[in-house]
Amino acid sequence: MDLFEYQARDIFEKHGVPVLGGVVATTTEEARAGAEQLLGGQPGVVVVKAQVKVGGRGKAGGVKLARSADEAAEKADEILGMDIKGHTVHRVMIAAGAKIATEFYFSLLLDRAERRYLAMCSVEGGMEIEQLAVERPEALAKVAVDPRTGIDQAKADEIVAAAGFTPELAPKVAAVLQTLWTVYKSEDATLVEVNPLVLTEDGEIVALDGKVTLDENAGFRHPDHEALEDSAAADPLEARAKEKDLNYVKLDGSVGIIGNGAGLVMSTLDVVAYAGEQHGGVKPANFLDIGGGASAEIMAAGLDIILTDPQVKSVFVNVFGGITACDAVANGIVAALEILGDEASKPLVVRLDGNNVLEGRAILAAAGHPLVTLAETMDGGADKAAELAHAAA
Ligand SMILES: Nc1ncnc2c1ncn2[C@@H]1O[C@H](COP(=O)(O)OP(=O)(O)O)[C@@H](O)[C@H]1O
Ligand SMILES: [Mg+2]
Repeated sequence: MDLFEYQARDIFEKHGVPVLGGVVATTTEEARAGAEQLLGGQPGVVVVKAQVKVGGRGKAGGVKLARSADEAAEKADEILGMDIKGHTVHRVMIAAGAKIATEFYFSLLLDRAERRYLAMCSVEGGMEIEQLAVERPEALAKVAVDPRTGIDQAKADEIVAAAGFTPELAPKVAAVLQTLWTVYKSEDATLVEVNPLVLTEDGEIVALDGKVTLDENAGFRHPDHEALEDSAAADPLEARAKEKDLNYVKLDGSVGIIGNGAGLVMSTLDVVAYAGEQHGGVKPANFLDIGGGASAEIMAAGLDIILTDPQVKSVFVNVFGGITACDAVANGIVAALEILGDEASKPLVVRLDGNNVLEGRAILAAAGHPLVTLAETMDGGADKAAELAHAAA
């Protein structure tokens, strides 16, 4: 999960990373109040910053200086509603203005291939780090970080030395890198990027921008992370699926897919897309893995999500009976169709195989639901579902 800058700022502050004050606003009036709060009646500068999960806000006109609360409200009015690389700005952060002497770059990320972390650091930070990495890679220090030791004093010293900080600045920056490691580790992040990390005219090192990605697989360790989710931005079907703890991803096609086990569902998507080529190019409408223990309730919840997707024209249920045998799955489907009643209004192709397959098929055949077609094979089922979707389109 990617965080907004203001959320990254809050997390930085919590762990002692030096940041400046920031107040989130969704209206010009809130922006004015935020600026008043930060300025505290004194003359000074605030910065109005678009909160969108995309880089390059500065260049796109989404970061603007203001010299008073009125001006902050004006700038917020300009920035709110702006489109930055396809992201509409719904919030701004009013940040205290920094007197920047120099801008640096730092990031720490997961290096999957090397099974460790990678720190990147440069004394030439600011807006064009991607360009710097391409044109003068030697100016961007890359230092491997062992997950077991992280960024301790020695590693921090190594990073700042590789980046070429002056002896005067090196210890100050090294101290901040260690607090950024605390953020990375204790929040279970996969990315912490600070661009720019700045030296102010007063000689302080401050994180002026923050990009943090949290590892959702570690969510169970962080009940507080749930509140950071941007539920407004999520697809409404995905949001409902999440509420029901379903492993669902919305796609563009018209064949709804339900399967058990991520691998089986992935290959079902492929098989349906392939079969669709013979039926007007229909494609899968979603990924949905109902997992091993597919009870009637889970099946009903899954069918409910898929059937309420207006793009769905047919559904392919592809289940391999294992621990939960095919007869249990078949009973689940029958019960789910009963629970859904009239809501179940689109044709279902069901392919069962594996443990107790004959019993499972017999249960579905006996139920004789008018919308259900039984398929013997995965390819056959995919073909039938694609044909039905095409016919209904
Ligand atoms: N609080 C601030 N005070 C002064 N200047 C800022 C402040 N925040 C950002 N800036 C300036 O704006 C530039 C872009 O802002 P930044 O937050 O890095 O957005 P982005 O990376 O999306 O362009 C920074 O490189 C910095 O020069
Ligand atoms: Mg930046």
